[in-house]
Parts: sequence; structure tokens; C-alpha cells
Amino acid sequence: MGIDEKKERVLKLKKEKNALILAHNYQEAEIQDIADYVGDSLGLSFKAREATQERIVFCGVHFMAETAKILNPNRKVLLPDLEAGCSLSDSCSYEELLEYKRKNPDTFIVTYVNTSAAVKSLSDCICTSANALKIVQKVPLDRNILFVPDQNLGEWVQTKTGRQMDLWPGECYVHVEFTYQSLLELKNKFPDAPIVSHPECERAVRMFSDVVCSTEQMIGYCKDHPAQTFIIVTEAGMITRLKREIPNKEFIPATTARCACAQCKFMKKITLDKVIYSLESDQYEIEVPLEICKKAFIPIQQMLEWSV
Ligand code: 13P
Ligand code: SF4
Repeated sequence: MGIDEKKERVLKLKKEKNALILAHNYQEAEIQDIADYVGDSLGLSFKAREATQERIVFCGVHFMAETAKILNPNRKVLLPDLEAGCSLSDSCSYEELLEYKRKNPDTFIVTYVNTSAAVKSLSDCICTSANALKIVQKVPLDRNILFVPDQNLGEWVQTKTGRQMDLWPGECYVHVEFTYQSLLELKNKFPDAPIVSHPECERAVRMFSDVVCSTEQMIGYCKDHPAQTFIIVTEAGMITRLKREIPNKEFIPATTARCACAQCKFMKKITLDKVIYSLESDQYEIEVPLEICKKAFIPIQQMLEWSV
């Protein structure tokens, strides 16, 4: 089957199976083509919560599909490849966070959405890269905060809000590959291009950037900015989305010390063939134990309330 036939097959199955297809901004172009909605973690959470279809096929990574299940437990949530994980999510386990909580029972735990449902169930409020500043600013001033698990996002929030926090020592293996040196070379080539970075990047990269924001917020920034060319410092799938939304501008993917174009191996696990298989055979269903689901819902709901 060629790509176009595969896309037609997905669209046909989507109707037959009464499915909603959600895709993250880092997904390949052909996956973005067949999705009902493409966006960042926050936008995808809102869409998952509103879904009325019988099934949600999540073209993203495991924690995103779990979040969809927690927000809308009566839908069947399918992840086309169970190996679509996340290095950041893996950097904080339930047991480790439980141990921290035992030692620090009064600390307010703000947890990045890139975590397992079990870790979320131990948290006070969830955040995404789009609303992390807002969320931390809403935490009562008399509470100490632990920010879990991305130390780079946490450090950026700390700098922006002036709020001191304990930072969990986790990181995204893709975003920490960008360096000040690799950006400097690009900036010399494109001196007028603003540098647009994701907050999961390290401090030197963030400080060199014109703006630091979530993947979806990058679209608004590049649309409104008068520049014609932008250097984009995040996973390369974002370039597809930007080119589609803003076809008259140019987007340069930032290089890293090791490669010309940074790709998340977990996001790229999702392919059209796997989406077809997922729809045909209802695989792989994401289940979250009821107790965890109920507990994790509370801090996610808190996030949705605090972020509007
Ligand atoms: P966004 O919510 O900004 O899309 O980020 C998700 C992510 O996994 C970044 O690596
Ligand atoms: Fe996780 Fe990084 Fe991939 Fe985002 S890019 S899903 S944070 S490993």
C-alpha cells in the first residue's frame, strides 16, 4: 500500500470505529495529515477531555495517552506502539517520589505532564510547558515547591517567576543535545532569525534564545513576529507543523553537537501502519488502575482550572 492508500485506510477505519485521532506536534507529516487535532500536551489534554467518540487513538507517547485516559476514562484510549515512552517520564519513578514525599510531607509537588499516571497520583498540581509559569505562580506562597521531573523546565520557571523550588534531576534526552555552540553557528548564518526554544533546553541555550515556549506557542510567536526566518530549537517534527501553519516563512531546525536534526525516537515509533493496526485490532489499550486514575485526576483537574 502506498502512503495515500494508507491514509485513506486510516480515515475509513476512523469512521467505522468511531475514533478520534490526536497527534502531537512532533509526529511525522503523514500522521499529522490523518489526525483530527495536532497540538502540544496542553491542547491535546483539552481535546481528550472533550472527546465523545468511542475510541481515542493517541499518536504521541505513553504519558500523553495515559493522561487522555485519566481525563476521559469512559473512552477506549489506544497507543499504536507501547514502546513510545519518554526519557523524562522515566527519570522519576513512583517509589522515588513516594520516598521524597515521606521525607517532605508539606512540600507542594508541581509535576510536569511528562510523567507516569502513578507519579501524577502523588502530585498536587500538573503543568505543561505552556502553563508552567502560571501554575507555579498560583501555588500558595507559604508552601515549599518540588518541581518534577525536568530540571531545565523547572530552572526556567524559577528564573521567570522568582519562586525558589527544589528541582528533580531529570531531563529530556533530545533537548539537552542542543548547545550554545551549535546555535552560535546557526545564528552566524542567519543573523536576523529569532531563536525559538523549548524550555526543556539547557540554560545556555535558553539564555541565547529570543523566546522560550511550548511547541504550540511557537506557532503564535512565529506568526506574529515580523521576521521571515526562525531558528527552531526543539524536536524536528515541529518544523512540519510550523511550515503548514505559516507557509510564507522559513524555519531552520537547530542542529545539535551530534546531528543535523534532533528527533525523539519515542515520538517516531508511531507510523501509519501501526495506526492502521491499532484501529483494526483495538491495540494497544491504555489502562490506568482505578485508584491511580482517581488520584491522578485531581492534580490534572487542578491544572486545567489554573490554566484558563
Ligand atoms: P509540548 O507540550 O510543548 O508540546 O512538549 C511536549 C514534549 O514532550 C516536549 O519534549
Ligand atoms: Fe520525552 Fe523528550 Fe521525547 Fe518530549 S522529546 S517525548 S520530553 S523524550
